[in-house]
Amino acid sequence: MVLQQDFHGAALGSTLASANYSHPPDCPSPWTRVVLELSIAASGVLQRHRVAAVWIDGAEVLRSATPVPAAQGAAFWKVQKDVTRHSALLRQRGSVVYMMLHNSDDRDASSPGGVYSANVSFHFYRSNLGGAIGTSQYPTVKGLYREPADLVLPISNKYGHFGSGFWLMITGGSHVATSPVKIPMNAYRATLEIFASYHDSDENWYTNPLGASNPDQAGNPFPPGMNGGFRQVYATIDDKFVGGHIPFPVIYPGAANPSLWSPVASIGAFDMPSYHLEVTPFLGPLLDGREHGFGLGVRDAQPYWLVTANLHLWVDPCSDSCRGGLVQYKLPPLKIVRDAKWKTDGESEVDAEGGLERFEGWVSSSMGNLTTVVQQKLKFTSKVEVHSQGAVKQVEVTNKRRAQVEVLGGHRSTLRRAEVLTEAPLHVRTSSTGGGRGGMSSRKTRVLHHLEETLSLFDGREETTSRLMDRQEAEGSALMLDDDGNTVVWESGRSRSHYKYRDGSSCFLREVHAAAGDVMMDKSGSCAAVSDV
Ligand SMILES: *[C@@H]1O[C@H](CO)[C@@H](O)[C@H](O)[C@H]1NC(C)=O
Ligand SMILES: *[C@@H]1O[C@H](CO)[C@@H](O)[C@H](O)[C@H]1NC(C)=O
Ligand SMILES: *[C@@H]1O[C@H](CO)[C@@H](O)[C@H](O)[C@H]1NC(C)=O
Repeated sequence: MVLQQDFHGAALGSTLASANYSHPPDCPSPWTRVVLELSIAASGVLQRHRVAAVWIDGAEVLRSATPVPAAQGAAFWKVQKDVTRHSALLRQRGSVVYMMLHNSDDRDASSPGGVYSANVSFHFYRSNLGGAIGTSQYPTVKGLYREPADLVLPISNKYGHFGSGFWLMITGGSHVATSPVKIPMNAYRATLEIFASYHDSDENWYTNPLGASNPDQAGNPFPPGMNGGFRQVYATIDDKFVGGHIPFPVIYPGAANPSLWSPVASIGAFDMPSYHLEVTPFLGPLLDGREHGFGLGVRDAQPYWLVTANLHLWVDPCSDSCRGGLVQYKLPPLKIVRDAKWKTDGESEVDAEGGLERFEGWVSSSMGNLTTVVQQKLKFTSKVEVHSQGAVKQVEVTNKRRAQVEVLGGHRSTLRRAEVLTEAPLHVRTSSTGGGRGGMSSRKTRVLHHLEETLSLFDGREETTSRLMDRQEAEGSALMLDDDGNTVVWESGRSRSHYKYRDGSSCFLREVHAAAGDVMMDKSGSCAAVSDV
């Protein structure tokens, strides 16, 4: 174990836990796999969900949300994450591991709250995998290059160790938080990994309606101050846009209807996804040994988002310096169509469609003069409908992305290629009946959430394809006291989760059904074995 800390309710947002760390001397690198384990026991009066992060020397390795237990009082949970690609951070001796729980809701700041006792540990594996943890349960994110980066540099708040945590705060749509970074002159490949979570006005951004430009009777836009359900997390290098992602809408455990997410968390809640950008085509001008400005932004954001990024670098062992140049920078503007019609009821829609982005650049190292081509195309819609005098709200999101990275050698022959196709639709329907019946109101929520990712990889000889499918259906009801609309008298929910990962040689499946706070069914194993049950 590396770090052990009790976080106390009222002081949550101000406690940065830290611990010195060196990997065990009897298990030196290289490792075949490194797994981070975070376990938390919570007791006392627990508040809404929190967002937590774990950093190594200021570089983030985990962003996680905390659950809202159905029975207030006690909860225990454990998160395991494959952090093999962050090995470079753990190889150096004498690093510092940090953890913080964020106080995202001011309403909670004054209440005494409960205690969260957290343990952080790392597990190192040197042998063939299997055994301790099922290999197919934790699919290795195979990239173009098999080996983890030689160096991982944080793009984060460099004063974070004084107690604020390493988060960079994005206060609105046009705000870009920048951090200066100097990179070694012999780097030949670079990727950026972005972490993001959303708070306050944007806590449920993916269900936000778009405010109409026609004002209500008091002259305010209606619904007030809403940007709609489109966001794009992006990065800049020396003020140039180098790529972006529409974030996967992780539903925080306290959102929608907390009873849906107990005991099975929503997709990604405990291990929020990070977003990867291949930035090798932009490497050329950065190899001058000087500092360059790496920026992070969130398009259309409303206050506020917490972001950080890691710059993964591969360096040339046989040369002191590499050279490079950008050959093509094609960035067609994202076509965004916004439409909103509101009275008491109404609907709004945001459609975003990108032309084909194409970035091409070369880097010359001891491995030769290689050209990297990055291409991306996306299509997104967010539709919000409100009817029956505001009693029914329906949200429909579609999100598709196709991205390709290709490495070309002499005569533009393809050495390696990765192509990924992602689809992430979301459907949320909430209906309420209010008033009457002894000052109670009831709310019914239904969520359909889906993530599908197909990765095709060509390593110069053969092509392999892997496919990940993660699907969740949940519905729940809650009965609330009308006085404040927040006091839940009774609630109940059920969920069905279906996870499947298949690659050329194996197939892993897990299916969990939960109802009223209990697990009703939990099957996992190889696809063939589980289907037989
Ligand atoms: C961590 O290491 C630093 C420097 O080596 C030392 O000053 C500090 O006391 C150590 N902290 C802990 C908690 O051991
Ligand atoms: C943390 O580790 C300590 C010591 O091994 C153990 O007693 C405690 O139960 C652990 N807590 C959690 C939440 O895992
Ligand atoms: C590498 O190749 C690109 C085009 O493929 C060329 O423009 C560049 O001059 C080459 N660089 C070196 C150092 O040979």
